[in-house]
Amino acid sequence: MKKIKNLKVSIVMGSQSDYKTIQLTEKILKKIGVPFETKIISAHRTPKRMYDYALKAENNNIGVIIAGAGGSAHLPGMISALTSLPVLGVPIESKKLKGLDSLLSIAQMPKGIPVGTLAIGEDGAINAALLAASIIANQDKSIKQKLNNWRSSQTKSVKKNPK
Ligand code: RP5
Repeated sequence: MKKIKNLKVSIVMGSQSDYKTIQLTEKILKKIGVPFETKIISAHRTPKRMYDYALKAENNNIGVIIAGAGGSAHLPGMISALTSLPVLGVPIESKKLKGLDSLLSIAQMPKGIPVGTLAIGEDGAINAALLAASIIANQDKSIKQKLNNWRSSQTKSVKKNPK
């Protein structure tokens, strides 16, 4: 298969209210230097927008999709049903069930349609960016280098002693 350069990460979220979590995904991708776009798409409230987006994703030079959703979080799974691009799901921390509902909705996909599920909330948002960068890095040496630089500066930031 031909290697396509300059693939971007596409971040989607079910609601504006998810953005306070998902902005951490953007922050990490910006720091590493991975190109990305961000959109609000709801599986329930804007199903046509989701359908059109997912069907066009591959032609839009997207290499990985990160989908954040909360509660009855169908967005990552439905997008994965419509495209064979890798889809990473970030369970948003919900008010009533603290994100356990989101986590189980995203993780418990039936066999045949996968979603790579991250941790609930901020940790998941950050790790989704790092995992997406790793996937893009398989095709792009400059992203690989940037990701490794980010990781080694993280390693250096860990002190040996607490005082
Ligand atoms: C989900 O419902 C969204 O992903 C969000 O996490 C949750 C609540 O949405 P709002 O009521 O805040 O718009 O679809």
